[in-house]
Amino acid sequence: MERFLWRCPNCGAALVPLPQPHPTVLQCENRHSFDIAKQGYVNLLLPQKRGGTPPGDNADMVRARTAFLEAGYYKAFSDGVNRLCLDTLQSSGIRAPVIADAGCGEGYYTHRLCAYLREHRLDAACVGFDLSKDAVSHASRCAKADGMQHCLSFAVASLFEMPLADGACDGVMNLFAPVADAEFARILKPNGFLLMAVPAENHLFGLKCAVYDTPYKNEVRRDVLSHFRLMDVTRITDTVTLNDNAHIRALFQMTPYYWKTSQKDQQKLFALSSLTTEIAFDLLLYQKVDARGSTPNPAKGTF
Ligand SMILES: C[S@@+](CC[C@H](N)C(=O)[O-])C[C@H]1O[C@@H](n2cnc3c(N)ncnc32)[C@H](O)[C@@H]1O
Ligand SMILES: [Zn+2]
Repeated sequence: MERFLWRCPNCGAALVPLPQPHPTVLQCENRHSFDIAKQGYVNLLLPQKRGGTPPGDNADMVRARTAFLEAGYYKAFSDGVNRLCLDTLQSSGIRAPVIADAGCGEGYYTHRLCAYLREHRLDAACVGFDLSKDAVSHASRCAKADGMQHCLSFAVASLFEMPLADGACDGVMNLFAPVADAEFARILKPNGFLLMAVPAENHLFGLKCAVYDTPYKNEVRRDVLSHFRLMDVTRITDTVTLNDNAHIRALFQMTPYYWKTSQKDQQKLFALSSLTTEIAFDLLLYQKVDARGSTPNPAKGTF
């Protein structure tokens, strides 16, 4: 917790852990205080921003996605994210990076990234934010179980209002979650990078063939962001075979098709005992631009 420059969601002042006998409370100078849950996360989403129903993914969605990710089907993608982050940090000479994962879900990528950077002798600290309390709670439990709570933290918060000071981070990761261009730029240092993932043309084509009579390839997405310049694109592809119907369902539920597919077409998928599909992602590496639109110290060549 200490490595992160927490900011109070009420008043914007710095939030710091209280000394003994209350080390499990974060408090600002205006005495707004937030309990650190026993799992290790802190809920910094103000009640008035929570709305009626619990926001973010619910416990069932979290469980399904956890089972799928922990089975390793997206490991190649996670490895690609890790390599790209390490290369970017090493080429900028950053030895003790702070990385935020905006919309971290249950922290699969955040956790693996933090462990990987530390295995490569960087004194990395990673923090994940998500609206889903169930997801954040799971992520924190895993961090604690692996003894990583000193370098890996999670908070319930909106990625549009992350409870971090301006310029607190070297990098922001944003994987399959909403994009908050200005907020990402705010929490980044001047040279900071943003790593975003988007599906490539063939992503999940095998799954689509199993569901739809006329499957389409994805349109390639290249978001133009006003506070960032696109520096590099890395394509990651793999072919995975799912031999467990629960994993097939979980994968389907993780996709936007889940919400758009008829019951009849969904049944085709739910009847399968095995599915082989290509997975294909583009990792978009952006660098923060200053107010004049220039990158102070470009990490890689633009194109
Ligand atoms: C498709 S999941 C991706 C999770 C994770 N990055 C992964 O790839 O496994 C999208 C996540 O964004 C979260 N989310 C949606 N809107 C959000 C917001 N405004 N602030 C923070 N998290 C949000 C959801 O709760 C969900 O966990
Ligand atoms: Zn405050």
